[in-house]
Amino acid sequence: MDEKLLEHLNKQINKEMYSAYLYFAMSNYFININMEGFAKVVKEQAKEELNHARKIYNYLVARNEQVVLYAIEAPDTNWINPIDTIKNALAHEQFITSQFNELFELSRNLKDYATEVFLQWFIKEQVEEEDKFRTLLEKMENIDNCDCEIMHIDRNLKIDEEYIE
Ligand SMILES: [Fe+2]
Ligand SMILES: [Fe+2]
Repeated sequence: MDEKLLEHLNKQINKEMYSAYLYFAMSNYFININMEGFAKVVKEQAKEELNHARKIYNYLVARNEQVVLYAIEAPDTNWINPIDTIKNALAHEQFITSQFNELFELSRNLKDYATEVFLQWFIKEQVEEEDKFRTLLEKMENIDNCDCEIMHIDRNLKIDEEYIE
């Protein structure tokens, strides 16, 4: 595999691990303000991010390439309210989308077709992840940040208990 592409894929493992850290931190934030519904949603997202890191790891191993594990940065946790937190989640996913688009373009330019096909799953996944947070954010913004209504959304998010482990 091309060296630059390999380096970027290794860095993407790190970005997925960072994403998991970010969502664990958000989960902690929501738990501290007694919003267990939101906490559940972002904790489930953290689990998905760990799985993304694993997918890239497995791919590099299957390609007989060297995996490099970089240090995971601590997320910035100065969120001022629930809306601010979910805004941060959406902005983060938009950033991750841009990273996959760059990876996809790079692999296409290098004619690394296997990597291009591998990355297609992530390109589709990013559409879902952005949509998930955008939909949630719109729901929150529509009620104009009234605390009681945010609590109501939180309760509804909590109803679907099947994700809790
Ligand atoms: Fe991810
Ligand atoms: Fe994500």
